[in-house]
Amino acid sequence: AGALDNLPGDWVGDDDGRFSPMTTWTQDELKTMVGQAALQYVVRGQLVGVGTGSTVNKFIDALATMRDQIAGAVSSSQASTERLRALGIEVFDANEVGELAVYIDGADEIDPRGYMIKGGGAALTREKIVAAQSRQFVCIADASKQVQCLGRFPLPVEIIPMAAQRLVRQFAALGGTAQLRMKDGQALRTDNGLQILDVHGLRISDPLAFESEVSVWPGVVTVGVFAHQRAHICLLGTPQGVQTLQFAQAL
Ligand code: 5RP
Repeated sequence: AGALDNLPGDWVGDDDGRFSPMTTWTQDELKTMVGQAALQYVVRGQLVGVGTGSTVNKFIDALATMRDQIAGAVSSSQASTERLRALGIEVFDANEVGELAVYIDGADEIDPRGYMIKGGGAALTREKIVAAQSRQFVCIADASKQVQCLGRFPLPVEIIPMAAQRLVRQFAALGGTAQLRMKDGQALRTDNGLQILDVHGLRISDPLAFESEVSVWPGVVTVGVFAHQRAHICLLGTPQGVQTLQFAQAL
């Protein structure tokens, strides 16, 4: 089988052996491409850390093809756990297992250093926990997630409900407008039973310092800046195919 056989759509080759797509990929197809490409980072015989979101769903679907070659998964959300189990992949509690070789997850934004904004799917706390338990973070994203500076996507922050109004004022002092995330007319509840603030209008030029600062505000459970848990690698879905961006060596 050729290298292009697993990629959706038609490809054309030039005289120098370079291939380019004949079609324009939809965002969904780009997600499928990076989800499949992430399989190469899954270590046979071991557990894999699994993130949350529509891109990760493509990865989970691809992972099902090698379910007999892995020990199982540690999941970052109830949604991913359900999908993994439905496809016959065993899911372990993070406390039952030790360090993981690799964590595969999407992002809402990723900058040129591998720093990310995450939490669009409200799973940021468990995502950060599983990422911290893993030696390597492989981010899978379509090219629309690439930014020069974090902050265009509203920053998700998981909070203790009692602190909501105080935190809205603290973000306002940084120039941000924080809104409680709603679902079906009520404040959304995360898998942890907590709430999410989405903070608009920030420009996060120093993600490490920002994450350190906001993480200690009383009532903040997790801020959706992943700088201390940045990506080691990003598999980026582009019109020219999957690009591999390396930001750091695995731990
Ligand atoms: C969930 C996340 C997701 O990784 C992020 O929202 C990207 O999702 P998608 O792949 O659906 O664009 O952080 O909390």
